[in-house]
Amino acid sequence: MTEKRQILVTNALPYANAALHLGHILEYTQTDVWVRFQRMRGHQCYYVSADDAHGTAIMLKADEKGISPEQHIADMRRIHEADFRDFHISVDNYHSTHSDENKQYAELIYNRLVENDHIAKREITQAFDAEKQLFLADRYIKGTCPKCKAEDQYGDNCEACGATYSPTDLINPVSVLSGTTPIEKQSTHYFFKLPEFTDFLKSWTRSGAVQTEVANKLGEWLDSGLQEWDISRDAPYFGFEIPNAPNKFFYVWLDAPIGYMASFKNLCDKENINFDQFWGADSSAELYHFIGKDIVNFHALFWPAMLTSANFRTPTKVCVHGFVTVNGKKMSKSRGTFINARCYLEHLNPEYLRYYYASKLTSSVEDIDLNLEDFIQKVNSDLVGKVVNIASRCAKFITKGNDGILSSTIADTALWEQVSGAGTVIAEHYENREFSKAIREIMAQADAANEYIAAKEPWKLNKDPSQHQQVQDICSLGINLFRLLLTYLKPVIPAMAEDGEAFLNDQLSWSSIEQPLTGHQINNFTPLLQRVDKEKVDAMVEASKQEVEQANQRVIEGPLADAPIADEINFNDFMKVDLRVARIVKAEAVEGADKLLALTLDIGGETRTVFSGIKSSYQASDLEGRLTVLVANLAPRKMRFGISEGMVLAAGDDDGIYLLAPDSGAQPGQRIT
Ligand code: MSP
Ligand code: ZN
Repeated sequence: MTEKRQILVTNALPYANAALHLGHILEYTQTDVWVRFQRMRGHQCYYVSADDAHGTAIMLKADEKGISPEQHIADMRRIHEADFRDFHISVDNYHSTHSDENKQYAELIYNRLVENDHIAKREITQAFDAEKQLFLADRYIKGTCPKCKAEDQYGDNCEACGATYSPTDLINPVSVLSGTTPIEKQSTHYFFKLPEFTDFLKSWTRSGAVQTEVANKLGEWLDSGLQEWDISRDAPYFGFEIPNAPNKFFYVWLDAPIGYMASFKNLCDKENINFDQFWGADSSAELYHFIGKDIVNFHALFWPAMLTSANFRTPTKVCVHGFVTVNGKKMSKSRGTFINARCYLEHLNPEYLRYYYASKLTSSVEDIDLNLEDFIQKVNSDLVGKVVNIASRCAKFITKGNDGILSSTIADTALWEQVSGAGTVIAEHYENREFSKAIREIMAQADAANEYIAAKEPWKLNKDPSQHQQVQDICSLGINLFRLLLTYLKPVIPAMAEDGEAFLNDQLSWSSIEQPLTGHQINNFTPLLQRVDKEKVDAMVEASKQEVEQANQRVIEGPLADAPIADEINFNDFMKVDLRVARIVKAEAVEGADKLLALTLDIGGETRTVFSGIKSSYQASDLEGRLTVLVANLAPRKMRFGISEGMVLAAGDDDGIYLLAPDSGAQPGQRIT
């Protein structure tokens, strides 16, 4: 093997204001497969990540939840870490940008930028929400488009006609946060003098540090002239205060990439690793950032420029991937294709998705479609039908026929050498992030192995005792080919590979593909992977829809300030809603649903079943016999657990739910007007 490389790998740090979804998981799978491959090749490869914990959005989210930002980011971090773990993402360290290390490096880098005269300071005018006492980023301002007059458009572009403009151009602008009209206000801001790095960036982006298509895009920006980058925000802001600039904070995107260093520093301190060897200006270690195409400017312009000014090394490569679409369309909450990582995990094995993504990932920035039909088909036909099948066809002849000892010879050396030799090109594909090519090659070899076994038909030969050795030799080769395939797949499906190692009684490593297992004891075979069950995929989509409905429900149920009074309706509109007194005759928990109770309601001569999200506040048995109010003419709704025939009325939010009830004496079935 070639010399041992020192590699540091990062993925983009997820924002600490939302759950991870299957789009994020694409990136973390891509990164993790690459990292696991490097480790299998014997290189020293560290993989660090963190939550991106700063910024206005996170501050507002914490406010909305009525908790401190520190509490909020601690909660999110736990959730993210669990998602990473359960998708088998093998980070060496998971940290936070709201950490001592990050403060230290953000200040250090900023101070060096100041010393090098790369920071400018000037007054700017911005929209300001006088009620909330906050400067408003463009996305917090809405108004009527100055071009096409479409209402309710965001501060920087119109979704109706595509026009781009500045928030001051909007007709009747309002702050999304308070509903008041923003005023204009001046304040001092700090800028990173990015234009001074134009020549450096022109050559850096063409040095092989980014894909050609990305370099071309960056080239357009570089040619049209770079702007100075505003790196400060006014208080109140959740972040780090800028040294010698009271009440000014680093913009979240200044300290976010520094979080890569901070997480690594945190690891260095725990494990006695030399930080400077990886980040020093003359470092010979390799540094890779895996990111999505939406954040290229931060990683391939601002970040290398900052690092250069501050006398740190620049990245070896910024590896950019495209976006996940589901069934050919942007992930959509209403279609149930905006699937959270946790929702996936509750229904399906993470290795199915890792395999599917790997089978589609290339080194390009093209989007990647998660087609759910194709997903089921591919996982079942490749992993179960081709790979696991080899072992399940061969293992029993060895364990029953020869006490689990593999033959001492290789029955078909040409075939063995072919599959073993394929390791070279498979490794090249992994190295170049051409995972789809690697998978295609591995499956071609699996086809060859299956053809061999199908042609030799050991199950027929086994009927003839004189063919005993033949059967052993054929099946031993089958097991050996299975071992090679599983070795090649180990970066993608580590858990299945681990189970395979227990079966093979062997550690799967890249260096051992040259030597077959001969005269070697294997263990009993247990099926390594179940087929993907279409019903579980459907249930996941259904559950994703429900998550969205529940989230919407919470918004509607919030206090008046959060949920303003709806548009006016007339009396006839109101009379369309048929509200009836109902008696709860039975209430019971719903298996598999945390929040729901199934209520059986008597509405005087008719019985209804309704699913209601009130479980957190009521004991089922306490409800039986109580009166409540039913929306009786609501169209029945198919839920994962059955059909809900209407809806009972309740007030409340996260802090409590209060079921509405008429005074005692009301009769089931009476109309409420
Ligand atoms: N916090 C910033 C990154 C800071 S890095 C110093 C951020 N966070 S994010 O949570 O919005 O996104 C994290 C990563 O997930 C990004 O690389 C982003 O491109 C990627 N993806 C988010 N949605 C995605 C898809 N639908 N598909 C593929 N990747 C996507 O940006
Ligand atoms: Zn418009």
